[in-house]
Amino acid sequence: MSYQNTHIYDVLFEQMQPDVPFYRAICDTLKPRSILEIGVGSGRLVPHLCHNSRMTFFYGIDIEPRMIQKAKEKTFLGGCESCEMSFIEADMRHFRISKQFDLVILGSSVLKHLENEQERLQTLQCAKEHLSETGYIAIDHSAYLYYQKENNDWQSYQATLADWWPSRLHDHLAQFEWKKEIVNHNDRLHIRHLQSENTITINTYLYPIEELKMNLKAVKLQYFLVANEYSPSLLKVNGQRFMALLTPNMTFNPRIDRLQAALLNYF
Ligand SMILES: C[S@@+](CC[C@H](N)C(=O)[O-])C[C@H]1O[C@@H](n2cnc3c(N)ncnc32)[C@H](O)[C@@H]1O
Repeated sequence: MSYQNTHIYDVLFEQMQPDVPFYRAICDTLKPRSILEIGVGSGRLVPHLCHNSRMTFFYGIDIEPRMIQKAKEKTFLGGCESCEMSFIEADMRHFRISKQFDLVILGSSVLKHLENEQERLQTLQCAKEHLSETGYIAIDHSAYLYYQKENNDWQSYQATLADWWPSRLHDHLAQFEWKKEIVNHNDRLHIRHLQSENTITINTYLYPIEELKMNLKAVKLQYFLVANEYSPSLLKVNGQRFMALLTPNMTFNPRIDRLQAALLNYF
């Protein structure tokens, strides 16, 4: 499994926050009372999802027990002291929580961990079944994991991504090297921590945005596209990003217009 080394994962990803404004804007605009994050990892996004004081409960599920353990160990500070938090080991393809949620999160291209269409459809269906009557699914998806190009030799993060990540992260990124393999429909990202020489491999599958859109149609989820690009250069190489709110009932919601306007100020 890709994510067993939760320490390296945390060291690298905790500070990576380019998607945070997307979730902040969604939560500020929709003001959900309940959120489910599917593939929550060690909880990188949790403080940004739960800062809204109206929140009553947050659930995070993940298939990797060490991620769940790590998330449980963290103290999430934020505006929702009264928010009940639960982190549960579960498989996104078939989970059942006896609650419904105002917002379900499918972040960081999490569906790319699924190997085939049947599993993706099952997951989308399962996410849909956990929505409250007026609930939305927020999805952030790109066909390539972290939209990185193929590179067969180890490369420094700093050299390749320096124009993309904020300069405050450059020293941080200099601790790592990465290698990307795309073989058939596999998309594998290897990340090496230079000091410890520990490596993690994130195994995913290519999942083009067009296929995702067909799958949404099949499970009767419509979408409001909120953003399709928020970072320069690399996205243009590997295809755009699909950042949207999914809903089974597409009704006019003035908040979505406000959300799109709010995001323009962020990106
Ligand atoms: C890229 S990480 C994203 C973590 C977090 N959402 C974030 O944005 O920081 C993807 C997570 O999905 C989890 N995952 C992969 N396959 C899964 C499955 N079938 N069911 C539940 N979680 C899964 C992995 O263990 C990993 O923690």
